[in-house]
Amino acid sequence: MELEINGETVALPDRLQHAPLLDVIRDHLGLKGTKFGCGAGLCGACTIHVDGVATRSCQMTPASVAGASVRTIEGLAGKDRLHPVQRAWMAERVPQCGYCQPGQIMTAAAFIQEVPQPSDAEIRQAMQGNLCRCGTYPRIRAAVARAAR
Ligand code: FES
Repeated sequence: MELEINGETVALPDRLQHAPLLDVIRDHLGLKGTKFGCGAGLCGACTIHVDGVATRSCQMTPASVAGASVRTIEGLAGKDRLHPVQRAWMAERVPQCGYCQPGQIMTAAAFIQEVPQPSDAEIRQAMQGNLCRCGTYPRIRAAVARAAR
């Protein structure tokens, strides 16, 4: 089967079509930016975009995204320029250990696309499903607000 990911179409062995998409992305395609946290759809570390919608890749399979456009953190930036959310993340110096941050950024990028001028309450609501054990939540929210400016 084929998977469209980060603008390229890649061939996958049929034996992987019902494997966790997160495992395929990390272990078969070598895109290590998407992280394993809980494996149960609870933490958001594995968040990617499927047709622009923030999606937990540990809960998907290649078969479930057939025909869709998949984007990982590696495909978020433009050719010569980081995504506005990535630039805001750097400006606000968000990460501490950094492990959850790709998932946080992918959630934020999809949210900003959908709600270009969010309120603080909307930002809080949109980001609440992505967990950060270092507790960088205030900086995450500041960066989302900055990206939306
Ligand atoms: Fe997918 Fe936690 S690893 S939600």
